[in-house]
Amino acid sequence: MTELFAWSETLNVGIQEVDEQHRALSDHLNALAEAVGANSEMAALRPILDDLADDARTHFALEESLMRVSNYPEFQAHKQLHEALMGQMLALQERLDRGEGTINFELLHFLKVWLSNHIDEADRRFGAYFLSIGGSSGWAPQVASSMATTRRRWKFW
Ligand SMILES: [Fe+2]
Repeated sequence: MTELFAWSETLNVGIQEVDEQHRALSDHLNALAEAVGANSEMAALRPILDDLADDARTHFALEESLMRVSNYPEFQAHKQLHEALMGQMLALQERLDRGEGTINFELLHFLKVWLSNHIDEADRRFGAYFLSIGGSSGWAPQVASSMATTRRRWKFW
């Protein structure tokens, strides 16, 4: 089956942890698409969706921290974009809890378009800003090596 979200290096915004998490989110979305494509039961789909929502929340918190410490002028507007998506996600989870709504390709398409446009526009602008003020594009070598030894815990974060 064709991947829902075919990752492209052109989506990198130049900040290592942000790019790694974007990649992980796209993998996660593809896993959900695969489960939907296999006509999985809601009992199997729901944990994948919940994990995706958790990872998105963690990822947004990371981006917002970087924006805050770098005095990013668009911080509030960008944070609102994140909050709007998380609000929609929470509303969906509540509908599913009530036995309403569904996890279908329409939802997957919406999430894919939202994520790819958000990365390509809003996150890319932040990446350019962060690097322009001297922010580091990658982990310091000592951080990278300590992460490698605790990879499981750091897998997403
Ligand atoms: Fe973002």
